[in-house]
Amino acid sequence: MQKILIDGGVSLRGRVKVSGAKNSALPLLMATILAEGEHRLHNVPDLVDVRTTCKLLRELGLDAQMGRGVARVSNRGPKSHEASYDLVKTMRASVLCLGPLVGRFGRARVSLPGGCAIGSRPIDQHLKGLERLGARVSIDHGYVEASARKLSGAPIVFDMPTVTGTENLMMAAVLAKGVTEIKNAAMEPEVVQLAEVLCAMGARIRGAGTESIEVEGVGGLEPMHTTVIPDRIEAGTLMVAAAITQGDVLLSGVRSSHLAAPVEKLIEAGVAVAESKDGLRVKATGRPRPVDVTTQPYPGFATDMQAQFMALMTLARGTAVISEHIFENRFMHVQELKRMGARIRLEGSQAIVRGVRQLTGAQVMATDLRASASLVLAGLVAKGRTEVNRVYHLDRGYQRLDRKLRGLGAKIRRSRARPPVTPK
Ligand code: EPZ
Repeated sequence: MQKILIDGGVSLRGRVKVSGAKNSALPLLMATILAEGEHRLHNVPDLVDVRTTCKLLRELGLDAQMGRGVARVSNRGPKSHEASYDLVKTMRASVLCLGPLVGRFGRARVSLPGGCAIGSRPIDQHLKGLERLGARVSIDHGYVEASARKLSGAPIVFDMPTVTGTENLMMAAVLAKGVTEIKNAAMEPEVVQLAEVLCAMGARIRGAGTESIEVEGVGGLEPMHTTVIPDRIEAGTLMVAAAITQGDVLLSGVRSSHLAAPVEKLIEAGVAVAESKDGLRVKATGRPRPVDVTTQPYPGFATDMQAQFMALMTLARGTAVISEHIFENRFMHVQELKRMGARIRLEGSQAIVRGVRQLTGAQVMATDLRASASLVLAGLVAKGRTEVNRVYHLDRGYQRLDRKLRGLGAKIRRSRARPPVTPK
């Protein structure tokens, strides 16, 4: 397995372009199931999860190809309505094919996604919503079976804002008979882009970006031609990279309106963030001030930025309290950061981070996508060498983050990990 080697201590300088958003590209690709014809998506990040989604679309009988930032999907009607366990176990976002398959073809058989490192992550809200629209839903041998002759619009109230739940039900409702109202909807920018693209395909959706979305079913949709919005989590990660190394970095290709929460917290920490026509400039000198953070649904501080911000707070001039309110187990990076000299105490959903003057390099293990980013950020500033193992986590959600950081001066490279020495 590959690992990333970092020699810490370099202040990052220069300009970096942020890639397209993983969590927008995935639902958009699934939405190609809803309309026959030739779909084209630009600014698609070249990530493992994007290639997995294209593979799933091909398993369903669509011709999905990805190359040089452009995804092309030719939909001449699917040949299958099943997403296999082997595929779903590698990417839980595969459940996003449920809504489009049932909405367009009245049938879907999708493996239940297992839990993952950050929590159990059930999909009960997705299934409850499909039943409200008239689908018959059952669980059989680890698979969700959903079917309906024709979905009918209905009011849906989520127990909590769920991003992919909102996306799944929007895609299920666009071809249903009548009007669907989704209350307690997620308001993430990725949900808004999906709604905008569905409307450009001919759907009738109002209220995306608020907690109440109304979908009026239509007879059919046209293929999409769109450009994926910038990845606000990659942007936030790169901003923290500039801050933690006391560097001076210009991020281009960002949508600053999607970054209000992390920008505010960085400014509170004493980081200079300035918007210009070229993008966002992030400049830091000296250790950060301690800043408390609580993760919330958008527009609050994103859970996907929690691990990265914690890496910054390990060097703060004081104590910061980081509260994780979205997932029940999203502190897997804490033990690894402590091996680098961080002083963190866990108390339920809170991490009490007492800043230290310096971290020291170590061999660390990535456990999930954002935890691995957090360890890379810590390695950039730690004294000596850091080895981040299980880099495949990073590659699921970041397009060559190591190359982007090297372009800003970081001493970072990949190496093929020697196979573990099996004891004789
Ligand atoms: C999306 O996951 C993102 N993934 C996640 O990003 C992100 O962390 C998460 O939203 C929260 O912002 C994609 O968009 C592909 P949720 P999702 O449903 O939709 C509970 C990354 O790092 N819940 O909004 O799966 C759930 O357990 C990934 O890029 C239910 O209980 O998250 C969680 O506590 C990680 N039942 C909360 O709601 C349900 O049916 C929010 O989860 C659905 C969700």
